[in-house]
Amino acid sequence: MNHPPTHDQSSDSIARIGIVTVSDRASRGEYEDRGGPAIHSYLDEVLTSNWQPIARIIPDDRETIERTLRELCQQQQCCLVVTTGGTGPSKRDVTPEATEAVCDRMMPGFGELMRKVSLEKVATAILSRQTAGLLGDSLIINLPGKPKAIAECLDAVFPAVPYCIDLMNGPRLETNPARIQAFRPPQ
Ligand code: MTE
Repeated sequence: MNHPPTHDQSSDSIARIGIVTVSDRASRGEYEDRGGPAIHSYLDEVLTSNWQPIARIIPDDRETIERTLRELCQQQQCCLVVTTGGTGPSKRDVTPEATEAVCDRMMPGFGELMRKVSLEKVATAILSRQTAGLLGDSLIINLPGKPKAIAECLDAVFPAVPYCIDLMNGPRLETNPARIQAFRPPQ
C-alpha cells in the first residue's frame, strides 16, 4: 500500500509526535495513565528541536488501535507515533497485530534491540512482542505498558530515530547529546 507524502519537509517545521496509551483500564479511567506521560517526559528531556505531542488513550481493541494509528499518521501528520501497552501474551494484547496491519513495511530491528536491552534488566522482557513499522511517512514504535520500560526501550533505539525520520522526509529532530547522541551517517 502506497501513501502520498504527507509531511512538511522544511527543517524548521514542528515535529508532531503521537503518544498512544493502549489499555482497557486506563481508557475507562479505572487506572491512571502513567505510560503516556512517561513518553511525553522522555521526549521533552531528549528532544531539543520543537515538537508537539498528540496524545490518545484507547482500549485494547484492534480496530480502535488501527484507526488511531492511521489518524495520527495520516490526518495528524505525526512523523513518529509511540505506543505503550498491549504487547504481551494476554488475549487482549493486540498492539503489535494492529501495528503490522496498518504499516506498509516493518522495521524488525527496533523490537529485536528493545528486547535485547530489556532482557538485561528483566527476564520477562521476552514476553513483549513489541515491533515497529512505517505507515506512509511515519514511524510507529511499540513499547511495553510498564512505565519503567519506556526509557529502557527508547534509550536503545532513539539514536537511530532522527535519521529514520530524515529518510522519510520528515522534520529534523535534534537531541540533547548529553541524553541521546543521534547518529546520522556522514554525508
Ligand atoms: N521491557 C522492559 N524494558 N521493562 C519491563 O519491565 N516488562 C515485560 C515486557 N517488557 C518489561 C519489558 C512484561 S512483564 C511484559 S508482560 C511484556 O513486556 C508485555 O507488556 P505489555 O503487555 O504491557 O505491553
